[in-house]
Amino acid sequence: MNQKDKNITWQNMNVSKEMKQKLHGHKSFVLWFTGLSGSGKSTVASEIERIFYKKGLSTILLDGDNVRHGLNQDLLFSEEDRRENIRRIGEVAKLFVDSGVIVLVAAISPIEADRQAVRSKLGNDEFVEIYVDCSLSACEHRDPKGLYKKVREGLIPNFTGISNPYEVPVNPEIIIQTESMGISDSALKVIEYLINRNYIT
Ligand code: ADX
Repeated sequence: MNQKDKNITWQNMNVSKEMKQKLHGHKSFVLWFTGLSGSGKSTVASEIERIFYKKGLSTILLDGDNVRHGLNQDLLFSEEDRRENIRRIGEVAKLFVDSGVIVLVAAISPIEADRQAVRSKLGNDEFVEIYVDCSLSACEHRDPKGLYKKVREGLIPNFTGISNPYEVPVNPEIIIQTESMGISDSALKVIEYLINRNYIT
């Protein structure tokens, strides 16, 4: 059913995205961090948000784990629930971009098509995909939340990278290898990319 059939029309607003961006003093876009659990998505995203804050940029960080405590608390880890998780995070990210805010998303988002679906909802230069590349063995060795241990004990089904797929991004804007690069250098690599392409100054 399309929106017309539901008697829903699009309302136009007085204050445009461009006006809001002007108010904030910078462009708005999404930095989408994807990678295995324990790869460092949240850590690097949070470090970038800290730097942005110091630069006076308006941001929000949508972290998969945290969003699952509220908006997405009804979702688990089936293929459909993960797709819905990413769809909702993508829609929220878009709302924030429309309000002139820089959005950082840290979510495993294991399926290429689900990430592409979010990308297609945003403008050409509004979606920056960052593949946080870290081998399964390194993530498992780090095991910051003790989840891999539980998986090996048979306590968590459908775990990404072990009993559920992770599709490596086909064409990400940025790749950060967190096994060979520290948090600050990883954050710097992203920020340099953004400065070189005039996302931020
Ligand atoms: S996603 O696959 O739907 O994008 P999301 O990023 O929201 O996942 O949540 C992943 C987090 O949930 C992991 O970092 C981990 O802490 C926790 N988690 C719990 N169960 C699983 C599971 N089966 N697979 C992956 N992560 C899980």
